[in-house]
Amino acid sequence: MLYLIKFGGNAIDDERDLRKICDEVRQMKESGSDVILVHGGGPAISAEMEKAGLKPEKINGVRVTDSAGLEVAAKVLGDINKRVTDVLDSLNVTNQGMAAYSCTVCRKVQPVKIIENNKERLADLGLVGEVESVDTKTLKKLLDQGKVPVIYPIGSDGKERLNVNADTMAAGIAAAMKCDEMIAVTDVPGVLKDVSDPSSVYPRLTVNEVHSLIEDGTISGGMIPKVEACVNAVRAGARAVRMVNGKDSNKILIDITDGNGKGTVITE
Ligand SMILES: Nc1ncnc2c1ncn2[C@@H]1O[C@H](COP(=O)(O)OP(=O)(O)OP(=O)(O)O)[C@@H](O)[C@H]1O
Ligand SMILES: [Mg+2]
Repeated sequence: MLYLIKFGGNAIDDERDLRKICDEVRQMKESGSDVILVHGGGPAISAEMEKAGLKPEKINGVRVTDSAGLEVAAKVLGDINKRVTDVLDSLNVTNQGMAAYSCTVCRKVQPVKIIENNKERLADLGLVGEVESVDTKTLKKLLDQGKVPVIYPIGSDGKERLNVNADTMAAGIAAAMKCDEMIAVTDVPGVLKDVSDPSSVYPRLTVNEVHSLIEDGTISGGMIPKVEACVNAVRAGARAVRMVNGKDSNKILIDITDGNGKGTVITE
């Protein structure tokens, strides 16, 4: 089985949470599965941008990125990548940290339609990318060597570096690598009916249901690129796509391999 596990910046803010997730990855490897990790860095990137006098702005959950913002995102994500690989090293999980430009080709996203003051307009997200192709050979080689690739979502179109939403990157890689499951570890227990009520999680959603929840505003912010990423991974053939809470003190990843996963499962 090949798993792609994506975790958000908020899910690993706390060193203990990061260690716990990495230890579950170790157990998955020990039970014979292959794992690819992709991580984000949302809150830390916003904090660093503010320190540098930049104003964090997101549209439909995706960060608007100019060249100064890209520098900050690349630096923060690179630092987080090192933190993750250090923890995996300490658990004797062989791994390879890398930026997404080392194993993918990306392209700049088109401006997106937004409604502002009741009027529709096109908003340019700047240096924001999506996955065009994946160097599957490089990733397969790492997996064959028993390594866990640990990827941070700074891509490139060959000319310039692009900031890619971590969920979007994860789905692109999961699809190209034909991963059996993609698991998005975040700071909520799944897709919620009411964001302020953690018990209102939808255990199961179809692609159509996901679309109507975006339409009616139930799904907003960072959950939009996340569910879109899940939908893309399902359409590309992933058997199951799940969202789980990284702050859960119980096992989150292993349970999934046992067939008793928590969180929200998205199916076609
Ligand atoms: N219906 C919903 N159910 C659950 N969460 C929702 C919903 N609508 C919006 N959200 C928001 O989406 C957030 C998760 O996305 P966010 O982009 O912030 O984190 P992440 O993707 O895990 O991390 P990163 O962006 O660092 O990779 C939740 O914390 C919540 O505030
Ligand atoms: Mg996000």
